[in-house]
Amino acid sequence: MTYEGGGMDASGAPAPLPGTDGLFTLDPAAAHLNHGSYGAVPAPVAVPAPVQQLQRRLRTEQERDPDGFFADLPERVATARSAVAAELGADPGRLALLGNVTEGVAVALDSIALAAGDRILVTDHGYGAVTRAVLRRAAERGAAVDTVRLPLDTPDEDAVRDTVLAGVTGRTTGAVLDLVTSPTARRIAAPALITALRERGVITVVDAAHAPGMLPAPVDARADFWLGNLHKWAFAPRAAAVLAVSPQWPARIRPLAVSWEHDRGFPANVEWRGTFDYTPWLAAPAGLDLLRRLDPGRVRRHNERLAGYGRDVLAERAGLRPLAAAEGVSMRALRLPPGCGESDEDARAVMARVWHRLATRIVVRPWPGGGVLRVSAQLYNRPHEYERLAVGLAEPLREFR
Ligand SMILES: Cc1ncc(COP(=O)(O)O)c(C=O)c1O
Repeated sequence: MTYEGGGMDASGAPAPLPGTDGLFTLDPAAAHLNHGSYGAVPAPVAVPAPVQQLQRRLRTEQERDPDGFFADLPERVATARSAVAAELGADPGRLALLGNVTEGVAVALDSIALAAGDRILVTDHGYGAVTRAVLRRAAERGAAVDTVRLPLDTPDEDAVRDTVLAGVTGRTTGAVLDLVTSPTARRIAAPALITALRERGVITVVDAAHAPGMLPAPVDARADFWLGNLHKWAFAPRAAAVLAVSPQWPARIRPLAVSWEHDRGFPANVEWRGTFDYTPWLAAPAGLDLLRRLDPGRVRRHNERLAGYGRDVLAERAGLRPLAAAEGVSMRALRLPPGCGESDEDARAVMARVWHRLATRIVVRPWPGGGVLRVSAQLYNRPHEYERLAVGLAEPLREFR
């Protein structure tokens, strides 16, 4: 195997990116192969933009004079928003900061005037919490949800696009689609698909939870609602996310909570939720700044190569079947053998056993015919962590077969 586009160690595996040692405070006794779920926040050691330290400073400032801190907050949030928008290539007037994508999807679904008989399209690769939100909203409005099934091995973006478009009916009002899927690390809501849906008059909600920091200039201005987490791949403290909307939506947005900023309209009306910890948002630009200083292209290439390496060793040494890899994605998904991780309970049991026996964090999502195991790759990961998982996996899996 060769892993083009970066350094290699003596065995041919991707080498660590120079100058990135000691960036994080993760427990060195464990292998954290699940950056995709909760991210990790850069630490205050020898880093030009120490995000954890900055957030601590902001919290200290807040505790010294809460009145002063909250009085200045709207202005500071606006400054942070502009910086985030610039890094993501978005229009700052049409981008709001939020806690997380789960919340942003709720705002989007609340803002769409769904009526009885309307249909919303989702896929079976969608994130569970998001799909549940769609189902609840549709039920409240007498609308229906159509779930497009995408084969796990759907070969490429064209095939994905055609399959999704085949699910559109005359009553399809909206589509909630992932840019990068959580269980399968695929790309679905590519620009061509969003354009095609718009041409058909379908409102698009793009769950781009993984995109900021992972994909270059990721915000798609064609999408009606575009949601991305900053606390996954953009090194922001939890919880920080963005909602970007297309021009017809700012005036029609329905914030989850009515606040003092309500009359100022979007984005302040969505951002403000009373007394709350806004320090993750104020520190978020530092995470993006760090990524820029490290050279985002270099970080992305490193992570993608390492994820590919992880996939290859898991396929070769553990005999798992890899799913097709999507370009630019720093995560890989592989199929567990039949009988392993097919139910929610079994998937959780596989993760727990891998943690207790191998001190390794992975994600397993239930899937009929064999669960889907996902590994991520971030600057702190090393080839030997995937190798150890591949060699040690047989034992925790044996009990399911
Ligand atoms: C595709 C996708 N959507 C939404 C989410 C939800 O993110 P959050 O819990 O930060 O709202 C996740 C989290 O892993 C995700 O992977």
